[in-house]
Amino acid sequence: MTKELTGAAAWNAVLARRDGLRGFSLRAAFAADPARAQHMRLQAAGLTLDYSKNLVDGDTMAALLALARERDVAASVRSQFAGETMNPTERRAALHTALRGSDAGAVLPEAAEVAAVRARIASIASRLREGAWTGWSGRAVRDVVNIGIGGSHLGPAFVTGALGHLCGASPRCHFVSNVDPRDLEDTLAALEPRSTLFVVASKSFSTLETLQNALAARRWLSAAGCPQEQVARHFLAVSSNVAAAVAFGIAADNVLPMWDWVGGRYSLWSAIGLPIAIATGAEAFDELLAGARAMDRHFLDAPAAQNLPLVLALLDAWYRNALGCASLAVIPYDQGLARLPEYLQQLVMESNGKSVGVDGVPLRRASAGVVWGTAGTNGQHSFHQMLHQGTDIVPVDFVLPLASHSANAAQHAHLVANCIAQSQALMLGRTLAEALAELAARGVTGQEAERLAPHLVMPGNRPSNTIVMERVTPHTLGALIALYEHRTVAAGYLWGLNSFDQFGVELGKRLGETVHAALVDAAPAARDVDPSTAWLIAMYRTLHRSVHG
Ligand code: F6P
Repeated sequence: MTKELTGAAAWNAVLARRDGLRGFSLRAAFAADPARAQHMRLQAAGLTLDYSKNLVDGDTMAALLALARERDVAASVRSQFAGETMNPTERRAALHTALRGSDAGAVLPEAAEVAAVRARIASIASRLREGAWTGWSGRAVRDVVNIGIGGSHLGPAFVTGALGHLCGASPRCHFVSNVDPRDLEDTLAALEPRSTLFVVASKSFSTLETLQNALAARRWLSAAGCPQEQVARHFLAVSSNVAAAVAFGIAADNVLPMWDWVGGRYSLWSAIGLPIAIATGAEAFDELLAGARAMDRHFLDAPAAQNLPLVLALLDAWYRNALGCASLAVIPYDQGLARLPEYLQQLVMESNGKSVGVDGVPLRRASAGVVWGTAGTNGQHSFHQMLHQGTDIVPVDFVLPLASHSANAAQHAHLVANCIAQSQALMLGRTLAEALAELAARGVTGQEAERLAPHLVMPGNRPSNTIVMERVTPHTLGALIALYEHRTVAAGYLWGLNSFDQFGVELGKRLGETVHAALVDAAPAARDVDPSTAWLIAMYRTLHRSVHG
C-alpha cells in the first residue's frame, strides 16, 4: 500500500516551510550567510552540485529530508538494487544498475549472460573498428545505422554525440528513429549499401517505427544488389524478444539479448549501448559503466543530506508540489551534451508522468512536470527572456563542463562565463533603482528613463542548480546519466508512483493501427468514430484518391 504524500506529517511540514519562506530572497540569503555556497555544495563520482541558488533555507532542507525519511526512500532504493519487484504492474525488477556491476549483479540469475553479452559487445565493436566486418561485396563496414526509438534510440544517440571527441572516422554511427520515411531516407542518401550495417534495437521487437524502418532498410540493400543470402551480414539486432528478431530474418548469431528487468529508458547500459561501444570503443563503454557505478555507490551509501540524487529529487518535489512549478529547464553548456534535454524528457516524463500511485489510487499531488531545454548559449537567444522576466518560475539545471575537448580554450571560456553569468542573473535580477542607474549611465534620464525602466526590471530570485564536471569523459558522463536516473526514481518514490511502467503510451499506438487501416483500406468498414477524426481520415483519403487515382 502506497503511503500517500498528502496527509503525511512530513509533507505538512514541507508545506509549512512554503509559507515560512514567503519573502525569501536569494540575495539576502547569500548576504546573511557567506558560507551558503560552501555548505550547499555536494560531490560524487567526479560531479559537483552547487544547489545554493535554490529557494530553500536550512529549515526547508530539513523538512524535505524528513519527508525522504518518512517516505523511506532509502529502503526503496535498497529493494531496487536487491532486485525486488519495483515495477509491480509488469511484475518486473528494475535492475539496470546490475548491468554496470552494482551490488545486485551478485544476486542476478543472468549474471553470466550479462558478462557474456558485454564480451560480445566488445568483440563486435573491435571487429567493426578494425575494419574486419565486411558486407556482401567483401568491403569493410564503414557506417552503422541504429534503428530504434525511445529508449532504444535516445540514450545511444545522446552518448555518442556527447563523446564525439572519441569517435574515429570509421565506423560512423547514425541514428534513425522516426516512422516518417524521410528519417531513414535522409540518412541513407549519403551511405554506400555495401559498407553499411544496421543495428535493429528494440526491446520488444514489436515497435511499429522500428520494424517499418528495418523493412525499408532491407529493401534498400536488396535494391542495391545485395543477394538475399547475404543480407544477414548487414543486420544485427538487440532485443529481449530474440525469437521475434530471428523470425524477422536476423541471424541468431547476430542477435544480442537483453532482459525484461531493464526498462527501455534505463537501457543504454545493456546491448542497446552497442553503438556507443562501436563509435567510441569498448574501453570507453566500460568507463561509462564505471562512472555510473560510482554514482550507484554514492546513491546507496551517502547520507541523505549529502546524497546528490536524493537532494535533487527533494528539490524537484519542492518546486513541483510546494511552489507549483510546472517545468524544469535543463541547459547543458556543452555542444556535445546538446541532446541531454531530449534524453531526459523520456527518462523523467515517461517514468514519472503518472496520475495514480503504485497501488492504483489517484495521486492527490502533482507528479512530474515538463522537462525541456537546449544547449547553452543557444537558449540565451531564444527562451531565456522568459526565464528571466516571464510570469512563471522555471527552475533550471545548468550542466557545466569546465574544460572542452576543443583546442580553442579561449573561445570556450566565453561559454563557461555565460553559463555562470546566467545563473547569477537569474538569481540577482535587476531592481528598479538599478535599472534607472544603468539608464542614467547611458545618458537616459527623466521621463524617458521612467518609461523604459519597468521593462528593464528583472525579478531575480529565480532558482537554479549548477552541476559541474572537469570535462565530459565516459566516466563523468556515466555518472551524470546515473545521477539523473536516480533522481528520477527517487522522485517517483517520494510521489509513491511506479517509475518503471508506461501504460500511457499504449492507447495512442492501438488507435494508430485502427486509423491506419481506415486511411489505406480500399473500402474501410463504417467505423464509429467522432466527426473530427472521421473528417481527418476523409481528408487523407480524398487527397490520396486524387493523387493516385
Ligand atoms: O514509446 C514507448 C516505448 O515502449 C518506450 O518505453 C520504449 O523505450 C520505446 O517504446 C521503444 O520500445 P522497444 O525498444 O520495445 O522498441
